[in-house]
Amino acid sequence: MEIISGKDLAKEKRAYMAEQVVKINAEYGRVPHLVVILVGDDPGSVSYVKGKAKACDEIGIKNTTVLYDTSVSEEELLNKIDELNKDDLVDGILVQLPLPKHISKDKVIEKILPEKDVDGFHPRNVAALYLKKEGTIPCTPKGIIELLDSANIEIEGKRAVVIGRSDIVGMPVSKLLLDRNATVTITHSRTKDLASVTKEADILVAAIGKANFVTANMVKEGAVVIDVGVNRNLETGKLCGDVFFDDVKDKVSYITKVPGGVGPMTITCLMENTIECFLKRAKK
Ligand code: GUN
Repeated sequence: MEIISGKDLAKEKRAYMAEQVVKINAEYGRVPHLVVILVGDDPGSVSYVKGKAKACDEIGIKNTTVLYDTSVSEEELLNKIDELNKDDLVDGILVQLPLPKHISKDKVIEKILPEKDVDGFHPRNVAALYLKKEGTIPCTPKGIIELLDSANIEIEGKRAVVIGRSDIVGMPVSKLLLDRNATVTITHSRTKDLASVTKEADILVAAIGKANFVTANMVKEGAVVIDVGVNRNLETGKLCGDVFFDDVKDKVSYITKVPGGVGPMTITCLMENTIECFLKRAKK
């Protein structure tokens, strides 16, 4: 069994991007600029936003965090996005989700210029992915493919099973695997006899948000297992994945861990997307 380390790959990629940003600065006279908007103080979101700022600092990407109280109006938030859309010195805009109930997530996402949508959540970027047109690819799915590639895992012709059908992970990663010629099955909470499906997987992607959900009886001998889960173990307070690592580890060929697997790659791909957004706008 081999562990695919997102932490190590992220480190390598960030070192490369740091050099890239130096060159960008020399050529264009400024570095890419990412603006992250955080509404409220949900501990998970605060921690993600800090992680993003730290990665930007490491690479040399300029980053601004805009903080709003939970009581901010939808209008005020939309106006802020409008201002950032018009600001030529802003290359990427990310609004941390989830948002308070009185603010429409869809309206917010649709307000962000697709060219500055580093999350790849805007309907135009979603359509681009499904129609194989140029656009921003969501960070976590992109990071998953990069992890598989880094370990030289062949995707073409393989049976890939994705557990979870979210807009952020399950659906886009399924499309990316399909584009690489895997035979893809998407499973979810209503799937009957889930284990019989997951046991067929050469590549199993777990993105359901349930701690230790995937156990040895659900995994084929020699499978590649990618764990997208970010769950808190209520007893220990520790971060844990959707995969019961100790249970499946002797059965798999490759596996990612939580923490240190997909998580660091998500943020790394956000940095890649920010640089890509900069370059696309700069070249226009
Ligand atoms: N909340 C949890 N994951 C994400 C993400 O990838 N992007 C944004 N904007 N918010 C999130």
